[in-house]
Amino acid sequence: MSSDRSAQKRNAGRRAADYVQDGMIVGLGTGSTARFAIERIGERIEEEGISIQGIPTSVETEKLAEEAGIELVELDEADKIDLAIDGADEVDEEKRLIKGGGGALLREKIVAYNSKRYMIIVDPSKKVERLGEDFPLPVEVLPKWQKAIEDSVRKLGCEPKIRTYEGEAFLTDNGNNILDCDFNGIDNPEELSKRLSSIPGVLENGLFIDMTDVVIIGKKKGFEELD
Ligand code: 5RP
Repeated sequence: MSSDRSAQKRNAGRRAADYVQDGMIVGLGTGSTARFAIERIGERIEEEGISIQGIPTSVETEKLAEEAGIELVELDEADKIDLAIDGADEVDEEKRLIKGGGGALLREKIVAYNSKRYMIIVDPSKKVERLGEDFPLPVEVLPKWQKAIEDSVRKLGCEPKIRTYEGEAFLTDNGNNILDCDFNGIDNPEELSKRLSSIPGVLENGLFIDMTDVVIIGKKKGFEELD
């Protein structure tokens, strides 16, 4: 990652951490931008003595949060999530997202859905006019009966590719596979999301619609907020 890109992500992440207040339950996203927010929350716990509880969206984030000194809680033990902070792979003008580049989309979507406020942190390269032109849509699927599920997804007008890692099918934290689906641009994300969800064996898709409250776009110096 270039140093400019890293500075943009850092500025977005650190800004998001300013919104965390004492006593909050905070959803902690996954990825290189979310990492900056988690680290800054950890600094604030140490410097200001604020007390918060975090709900991580992946095993990777759980480790990072522990290292940062953030107390963790299970979603089922928390009656609400005050604020969730997460990255995204693409954001359009209507704050619709593609997520799942890191493979954590299922838990990320559950946390987003259960949050009072959902804050997205990105660098400027993630802002797009039309979703899915450059970034293939991640879709989490059951590993069993893969071909049948893949064929059903293909019928929606994309070329699905099973994500691999070190020569093997990539496994999510939930033990599932990811199909990266190239739609060459998505005209109607709402409709596509519904159609994907209606395919048996599709466990979640990376379209996050009507969820985002705030987008923070990190700049080389400072940030821009879309509220
Ligand atoms: C993980 C995600 C990430 O938020 C997304 O991939 C963005 O990652 P990064 O901040 O590293 O660019 O959806 O499933």
